Amino acid sequence: MPQLTDAFGRAIEYLRLSVTDRCDLRCSYCLPRGFTGFEEPAHWLSFEEIERVVRAFAELGTRRIRVTGGEPLVRKDVHQLVSRLNALPGVEDLSMSTNATRLRKHAASLRQAGISRINVSLDSLQATRFREITGGKLGKVLDGLMAAKQAGFAPVKINMVVMRGVNDDEVEDMVEFCIAHDFTLRFIETMPVGDAGRVTSADAYMNLNEVKARLAQRYELLPGVSPGGGPARYVQVAGTELRIGFITPISQHFCETCNRVRLAVDGTLYMCLGQDDKYELRPLLRDGIDDVELKQHIRDAIARKPERHEFRDQPDKIVRFMSQTGG
Ligand code: 5AD
Ligand code: SF4
Repeated sequence: MPQLTDAFGRAIEYLRLSVTDRCDLRCSYCLPRGFTGFEEPAHWLSFEEIERVVRAFAELGTRRIRVTGGEPLVRKDVHQLVSRLNALPGVEDLSMSTNATRLRKHAASLRQAGISRINVSLDSLQATRFREITGGKLGKVLDGLMAAKQAGFAPVKINMVVMRGVNDDEVEDMVEFCIAHDFTLRFIETMPVGDAGRVTSADAYMNLNEVKARLAQRYELLPGVSPGGGPARYVQVAGTELRIGFITPISQHFCETCNRVRLAVDGTLYMCLGQDDKYELRPLLRDGIDDVELKQHIRDAIARKPERHEFRDQPDKIVRFMSQTGG
């Protein structure tokens, strides 16, 4: 099987697939309240178009696909898309990132359709605070999480964006919650993506080394466990099953091992979360290119993947919103 390799020798074997840029929440670091600049439906790739692009990626050696948004469960009949992707030769690992507000209803059908692993954003266990951060209802997310566990997703991972003065007093509570429910926990540093991300980063960015040091006072953290091929650096909490991952795009970037690109709902391939480099596949698809040409365009796009993000040196650079690119 051929492999996609970029100009810096990185094998690209992971595609993050945003199936909608819409979301039923408005997380402070992602989407501003009242935001209306969503992609028009005529520009959304159809399930047929998405399947075609994913098939091309799979034939080029991409093994892992993560379905993201916006909130992927806002896209109608997304489990049907999942089934189709699951049937593609070469696709070995299908996962989803969701805010879980609709997961209670969808967990079982997603599992059946072929999603094996699920990541859920959860920044607070306090209902009032959760509403302040996201505009949504904590109860629905917790119901969704329990449904995911029951449906047999393993592991269920919780993503918490740690923000100083907003939710940093809850990291220990989140550890206890994840121990109790057998979830994997990942802490994430706020990134200056889009206006919302920039404002939140400027106000509340927190270096996760500080969080780790604080947790080390209360728990024995064992280094060296690193499941998955992602950027999180994991520790295990001694005496428990809990693994905690630290995702540190700012304090310690991991660009040299980056293995992914992102496909937005409008068919734009984004080569890097922190750069503007993009490659528009939609016009080509709708112009009737054949599969050989499609694969060549994908190779060309990958060859242009930038070396690294510049969140630190140029925090004003990325104007698009996180929900547009997929987190
Ligand atoms: N910085 C860090 N993480 C972000 N996410 C969304 N926007 C940002 C940002 N500006 C995360 C969400 C979710 C994942 C999809 O991306 O918390 O867990
Ligand atoms: Fe929605 Fe996820 Fe953005 Fe929150 S971070 S507003 S859940 S897309």
